[in-house]
Amino acid sequence: MSDTQRPGAGRWVPAGADVQELRDAVDGCRGCELWERATQAVFGEGDARARLMLVGEQPGDREDLAGEPFVGPAGRVLDDALRAAGIDRTEVYVTNAVKHFRFEERGKRRIHKTPEAGHVRACRPWLEAEMTAIDPDVVVCLGTTAARAVLDRPVKIGEERGVVLEHGDLRVVVTVHPSAVVRLRDSAERQAGMDGLVHDLRVAKDASRGD
Ligand code: URA
Ligand code: SF4
Repeated sequence: MSDTQRPGAGRWVPAGADVQELRDAVDGCRGCELWERATQAVFGEGDARARLMLVGEQPGDREDLAGEPFVGPAGRVLDDALRAAGIDRTEVYVTNAVKHFRFEERGKRRIHKTPEAGHVRACRPWLEAEMTAIDPDVVVCLGTTAARAVLDRPVKIGEERGVVLEHGDLRVVVTVHPSAVVRLRDSAERQAGMDGLVHDLRVAKDASRGD
């Protein structure tokens, strides 16, 4: 499907809404075709006054069923990394660039399919409304899809991760997606992947205190 066939989320996003009002409205969104096959929209969750906002890619299989972000395997890695960085998950706000699960069916399994740039663009009004409502000091982009959605340009994670980037009034830190750590099978590589994620989260935490 091309962009011209995707109206984008704009007309479904209530103006001036707080996070709860946005969450109540998101399931009705028809801004792109991804709502058709997903169970439900998965909106952001966490502290509405959070100083730190974390953005992932899109809900996975488990998130689609639960209606909550980062509750599956990637969520466990994220929880561990946050704990190691000294960040309380209840004090941050966690969301995704795209609110409906995109997948491919293989037998009985639903396999994650990376959203296209057009899906990210269509869904961006929700992310913008969340950023306005939460007004965080720092946004952490977990992986390339989130980084592209927030910074509005292509980003190479390896080249820009773990430092504070300025984007308008916002401080942005990009890092790897926790799923990239989940996929590492070698235990030394996995530990190194985790250490990198923890490092980048600490950078974000320090930047959110205004240091
Ligand atoms: N991966 C994401 O990007 N977000 C989720 O919520 C779960 C997995
Ligand atoms: Fe709307 Fe985003 Fe869902 Fe597409 S993915 S229908 S734009 S909420």
